[in-house]
Amino acid sequence: MFPVDRPRRLRATPAMRSLVRETRLDPSQLVLPMFVAEGLAEPRPIASMPGVVQHTRDSARRAYAEAAELGLGGVMLFGVPEHKDAVGSGAVDPNGILNLAIADARSEVGDATVVMADLCLDEFTDHGHCGVLDGQGRVDNDATLDIYAQMGVVQAEAGAHVVGPSGMMDGQVGRIRAELDAAGHTDTVILAYAAKYASAFYGPFREAVDSSLQGDRRTYQQDPANAREAVREVLLDLAEGADIVMVKPALSYLDLIAEVRREADVPVAAYNVSGEYSMVEAAAAQGWIDRERAIDESVLSIRRAGADIVLTYWAAEIAKRLH
Ligand code: PBG
Repeated sequence: MFPVDRPRRLRATPAMRSLVRETRLDPSQLVLPMFVAEGLAEPRPIASMPGVVQHTRDSARRAYAEAAELGLGGVMLFGVPEHKDAVGSGAVDPNGILNLAIADARSEVGDATVVMADLCLDEFTDHGHCGVLDGQGRVDNDATLDIYAQMGVVQAEAGAHVVGPSGMMDGQVGRIRAELDAAGHTDTVILAYAAKYASAFYGPFREAVDSSLQGDRRTYQQDPANAREAVREVLLDLAEGADIVMVKPALSYLDLIAEVRREADVPVAAYNVSGEYSMVEAAAAQGWIDRERAIDESVLSIRRAGADIVLTYWAAEIAKRLH
């Protein structure tokens, strides 16, 4: 008799396929990134990310409550300040837009979902870099760490359960941990953007945060050609006290998600970034791909590669479908 092995038996019906499915999506594994802008009268659509908006503080409040009702794992907050300057002053101001949004989120959801904040300067600087610049216009690692350390404390004081350093400065996790602990915030979680690549797939994010970046981030974010370097970055962040490590972007870096899952004994997150979102939305709008299937396949693939947690702009939509 040929064939002897018939894997198709296990694909015969929806019930059979469901029975043997290895990876599932659950709202609790999904985190919704959100943009909260200062001085907006109403939410502003982001043209390159159809379906995503810059929130006002009020519209964001409704979205935090919805995230909690849907059982999402968390929300990741980004602030879009009205005024930017060379040192990103808005980031460390307790009345800066991001810190106000964190406080709003906590007052809205309490502990019902996890409130996370991006800890980086690029949304706040007028030059758009993730750190402050030295006299030659280079991103100054150690001067930036001083500001990140303050930012961590201000975000924790505003109520963030989790801070997410995403600037790829050397020593950022250790420095933020030490400052949090010294200020008594020993329970604040650090989600380290540990392996973060200098990626073209962040393109739409620049519009989302009104970034004015000139040049690129290749002196601090990783070269897309390198895999071993990602493991090194992850091990350094773990040694410095990271509670969760993240790989970013996700879909072009599934090999690294799998590798990091093997190397790390903490939860692994992956960020399904703006460009990955926009590619699917754009192709679907043309009728070239089935939108819902492409969304589910994208996020499922990231989970299958080994991510425990997925940050995705589709988090609320997927959760609604799962309910
Ligand atoms: C840095 C940060 C970026 C993103 C998340 N955090 C931009 C960058 O590093 O250039 C990108 C997220 C996305 O593209 O969805 N604050």
